[in-house]
Amino acid sequence: MLRAMARDDLAVLYRLHEDVDTAVLTEVDPWVPETLEQRLSRYDDRSPDPANVRFTVVSLADGQVLGSCIVWGIDSFNRNAHLGISLLPQARGRGHGLDALRVMCDYAFRIRGLHRLGLETLATNTAMITTAEKAGFRREGVRRDHAWVMGSFVDELLFGLLAAEFS
Ligand SMILES: CC(C)(COP(=O)(O)OP(=O)(O)OC[C@H]1O[C@@H](n2cnc3c(N)ncnc32)[C@H](O)[C@@H]1OP(=O)(O)O)[C@@H](O)C(=O)NCCC(=O)NCCS
Repeated sequence: MLRAMARDDLAVLYRLHEDVDTAVLTEVDPWVPETLEQRLSRYDDRSPDPANVRFTVVSLADGQVLGSCIVWGIDSFNRNAHLGISLLPQARGRGHGLDALRVMCDYAFRIRGLHRLGLETLATNTAMITTAEKAGFRREGVRRDHAWVMGSFVDELLFGLLAAEFS
């Protein structure tokens, strides 16, 4: 289940940043150490940003925080945006990723009236590639050696989904 991100969620979500192996899969900028206090202070200082909508992924059973996801880069003129997601290690492989992706698509297409969603991931990220394809995303291209990841260049795959293709 997705809900609005609350300040209290950051204490759990901070683990995604502390886990460098996960952070390099999701963060475009180079990883730097950051304390939870620094993260909370950034959260408090940020201005409202209509182009990026953040959600917390929680367990329907008990409300436990499982991860976060985002509809980012919302372009209201061209009616497109991108999706991003990161789950805590113990929450992976149990269907939450696919569920969250579908809910974000529904939000983007039905509630926001967007026409196209993009999703970018490393060519080595089998879990994300499989989940994106299961959600109906089509592989549209590859940016060769686009990302520097843990000591080597890795291709980035580009996926896309149009509103008419989402069911
Ligand atoms: C990528 C991620 C969001 C996928 O979510 P998830 O909850 O683990 O995936 P799901 O359980 O919903 O699985 C969806 C499909 O992908 C498959 N899958 C999941 N993990 C897989 C893996 N490691 N290898 C191969 N297939 C995998 C599942 O089998 C399932 O297909 P099925 O229905 O045919 O069984 C999650 O693993 C994650 O947060 N990873 C770390 C952060 C990350 O890489 N984010 C994306 C950055 S672009």
